Amino acid sequence: MATRRLICLEEYEEEARSILDRNTWGYYSPGAIAEYTLRDNLQAFNRYSIFPRVLVDVSLIDMSVRLLGDTIDMPIGISPTAMQCLAHPDGEKATARAAARMGTCLTLSSWSTTSIEEVAEHNGSHSLRWFQLYVYKDNNLTIDLVRRAEREGFKALVVTVDTPESGTRFPEKRNKFYLPPHLKLANFSDRDSTSLLISWGISLLFWDGIDWLRSITRLPIVLKGILRADDAREAMKHDIQGILVSNHGARQLDTVPAAIDALSGIVEAVKGSNIEVYLDSGIRHGTDVFKALALGARCVFIGRPVLWGLAVNGEEGVCEVLSILREEFRQAMVLSGTPNISSITKDLVMHRSHAKL
Ligand SMILES: Cc1cc2nc3c(=O)[nH]c(=O)nc-3n(C[C@H](O)[C@H](O)[C@H](O)COP(=O)(O)O)c2cc1C
Repeated sequence: MATRRLICLEEYEEEARSILDRNTWGYYSPGAIAEYTLRDNLQAFNRYSIFPRVLVDVSLIDMSVRLLGDTIDMPIGISPTAMQCLAHPDGEKATARAAARMGTCLTLSSWSTTSIEEVAEHNGSHSLRWFQLYVYKDNNLTIDLVRRAEREGFKALVVTVDTPESGTRFPEKRNKFYLPPHLKLANFSDRDSTSLLISWGISLLFWDGIDWLRSITRLPIVLKGILRADDAREAMKHDIQGILVSNHGARQLDTVPAAIDALSGIVEAVKGSNIEVYLDSGIRHGTDVFKALALGARCVFIGRPVLWGLAVNGEEGVCEVLSILREEFRQAMVLSGTPNISSITKDLVMHRSHAKL
């Protein structure tokens, strides 16, 4: 059967929806409650216009970028999404191989259905990988995960700080979401993973939890899920190296701002420090990447689009999704007169509310 060539991320979403079962789609797709923020994550990008510069030499485009000292080929990385074997039997292994092939950063969820060790093997020795962590009430559980990530060459810990408990998503509730018996949370013992799933019990994490984490590891720490400038200023007191501005793909608290609308406040708050700022939540187009970079993000990350690529075509599908975004972003650079990342400056985007009529 000849397969239709999919040309944009929306088509991947549509195709994935038709492939995945109700239990999986009901877990992957929703936002919290009325999904106001889920819609706003996409719409907010349209409230910014790109204000292109002309007659610039754009014959050579360089989109490489440094993340915490490591260079990747494009400023579009992979956010952690749990349980990828629901999307495709190769799950996290396929994503790890795709990230390596595309020369970008993989962030592995600690709730993966493939172990840290196996993912590292498939990601390879030259690729940049980060490990996402919840800080658990049981210190030993956290320490064990950190040591394994260190041993397997993960270069940063991405600590998710917006999830003291899981948000409410109606389809998950309606379907009584379950992990099918042939899959398991591969980084935990059966006993630990059962209790995680039953209670969705995550962390009791306060700022001193970050200091504790700092005391047990030398890996850079990225805080994922900060939206407020005062939280960013507080973060600066805790020896962290990065902030991933994110509303968790609108899955936690409904009606919070779109990540792109929170970005400038955070960038401003950490100005003058060495903290790197990234963004996820709602990136679907190359122009979204461009706008986030113009507003001060060093790199963006994608969550659901990777799951769509996986569902449609495993490793190839993830590569295709990343290639589409890369190509759209490259074209945005060409057509706006910005041959490299540092030329993507704030004056190239304009919020519509500031446009003169
Ligand atoms: C199905 C699913 C599972 C996720 N699992 C995790 C997780 O285990 N840890 C985490 O920090 N974030 C998790 N996230 C949030 C993503 O890392 C990311 O913030 C979000 O998906 C970005 O928005 P986007 O999907 O619009 O790109 C998950 C998101 C989805 C959709």
